[in-house]
Amino acid sequence: MCGIVGYSGKKNAAPVLLEGLRRLEYRGYDSAGIAINTKKGIRSVKVKGKVAGLEEKLLEKPVVGSCGIAHTRWATHGKPSVRNAHPFRYNSFAIVHNGIIENWKTLKDDLIKAGYNFTSDTDTEVALICFCALFEKTQSIGKAILQLVKMLKGAYAFLIIDEQNPSTIIGVKNGNPLVVGKNADDIIAASDLTALLSFTNRAFFLEDRQFFVAGDGNIDFYNFEGGKISNTPVDVKWNQEEAKKGGYKHYLLKEIMEQPAALTRALAGRVDNLLFDELKNRITPKGRIICIACGTSYNAALCFKYFINMLSGVSVTVEFASEFRYQPHDLSADSLVIALSQSGETSDTKEALLRAKNSGAHTIAIVNSWESSIARAADETIYMNIGQEISVASTKAYTAEVALLYLVALRIASERGAAAEKIDAWKQKIKEVPKIQSNYLENSGSVEDIAKKYYKKKNFFYIGRGIGYPVAIEGALKLKELSYMHAECYASGEMKHGPISLIDSEFPTIAVAPPGGLRDKLFSNVSEIKSRMGQVILVSDSMLAGCDFIKMPKIDAWLSPFVYILPLQLFSYYAANLLGNDVDQPRNLAKSVTVE
Ligand code: F6R
Repeated sequence: MCGIVGYSGKKNAAPVLLEGLRRLEYRGYDSAGIAINTKKGIRSVKVKGKVAGLEEKLLEKPVVGSCGIAHTRWATHGKPSVRNAHPFRYNSFAIVHNGIIENWKTLKDDLIKAGYNFTSDTDTEVALICFCALFEKTQSIGKAILQLVKMLKGAYAFLIIDEQNPSTIIGVKNGNPLVVGKNADDIIAASDLTALLSFTNRAFFLEDRQFFVAGDGNIDFYNFEGGKISNTPVDVKWNQEEAKKGGYKHYLLKEIMEQPAALTRALAGRVDNLLFDELKNRITPKGRIICIACGTSYNAALCFKYFINMLSGVSVTVEFASEFRYQPHDLSADSLVIALSQSGETSDTKEALLRAKNSGAHTIAIVNSWESSIARAADETIYMNIGQEISVASTKAYTAEVALLYLVALRIASERGAAAEKIDAWKQKIKEVPKIQSNYLENSGSVEDIAKKYYKKKNFFYIGRGIGYPVAIEGALKLKELSYMHAECYASGEMKHGPISLIDSEFPTIAVAPPGGLRDKLFSNVSEIKSRMGQVILVSDSMLAGCDFIKMPKIDAWLSPFVYILPLQLFSYYAANLLGNDVDQPRNLAKSVTVE
């Protein structure tokens, strides 16, 4: 989703802002722009496409000044174009925006009636012109902001600069992330910590309904009631090294390959004591347990549902956050709601979590991004500790989420009186996972050959049973988003109830077949597919004649979300790479989905 950066300090702003935008590129975007307060007033440059194009334009015609704002846009209102790219200008002000103004149409109609003209199709320009109209009346930036936020509906983070106050940046937050950092010479603000890290590891996070006014080395924070507030900086633990490719061609491949190390970090100090540092009190609720999440995080929660049910007979409901947030609920203080999010900023997950919290349920967040909105909103937070995930498609966060959820399941089983030997045996198995993953990744060459054979197909089925089923669902999601192939997943017993009618020699199936009682049943489903000329790629430790085979190590089936997922991630990566797709920033997708 959109990224915003602002700078005020002693340096030339353009290179600083460009570097900030580069660090936000992983979020996914379609256009980019910059506005700088120069000696001759605000100058802006915008391009459709990538930050590299913006940089070229700035090299041709430099824009010099030491205060400015910049933006990468992921289109919501109006197609990707220079006309709709941020920053927008009006009178002495320029603005960049992350989020959505829901009542833009009404506000725009009123402004047009009042004689204001628009140059774009965006909701952002509506917010800017509204602000300028209020400034015309009040002649005070602070008063105009306070009146503006009363009029806007929706979620937003803005950065604004002003020709009349050439070193000032104003940042406004309600619903979308905004962070600002400061060192002796520089103030830098952004939608994402990543853009700050080359300047400072001390960051001030804004809460919703707050804004700041910064410049000349000072930052003042206010709430939407107009009161001045204090804000204590946080020392950030990430470093920039974690954000580099480490010799791999793509971040995605690096992140797939670093899963054993990431999982080791996620589990460190947590297996023996079953997360007691984070979850100090008993967590087993008397009432329901619900997981809320989107996309890959949702798929990780599905593995938890199967695992905890096998372990202790407990039923867990897994809900898409986008649905949960609007459904009626019977939640109470006896309910436990677990929100999962790599970015910690997914709008639907955040709103669903707040809804659960407001209904009195106890909330736990499993989150990667440090101090993110979801991390801060939950009653208790478990950080994944896996370092930054940069590639848009989620990989290492998935295995970390499943691992932490398995620990939650063991904790609940233990609190419900499961035998210590049984819990200890599971702890031991979980500790061995990083080693099993490393061994597999060192010998995963056959996956690339299979990708070479299949990457031109247009459609894929993924099938699985038991714990293999949620793993297959995540495999299908990876293929879709990276290779743009149509990939659909079914519990294999469902194939004969409809989907099998699509099978022919051009419609291959990937069968995820870890060991266990249900594998023979899945093999029967595979035979039914092969009898209809369907090609099958079997992911298993046991071969079946007539299938392409991805050989897996002999492991406990319940560990397959950590191990069987690896060839599925790699298959999608290789296929996408062979197709020449933008592997790290697949089309139409964003890393941090901060709009509904
Ligand atoms: C898939 C993917 C998305 C995210 C989803 C939730 O590879 O990246 O499906 O998993 O947008 O994101 P988080 O986990 O940040 O809430």
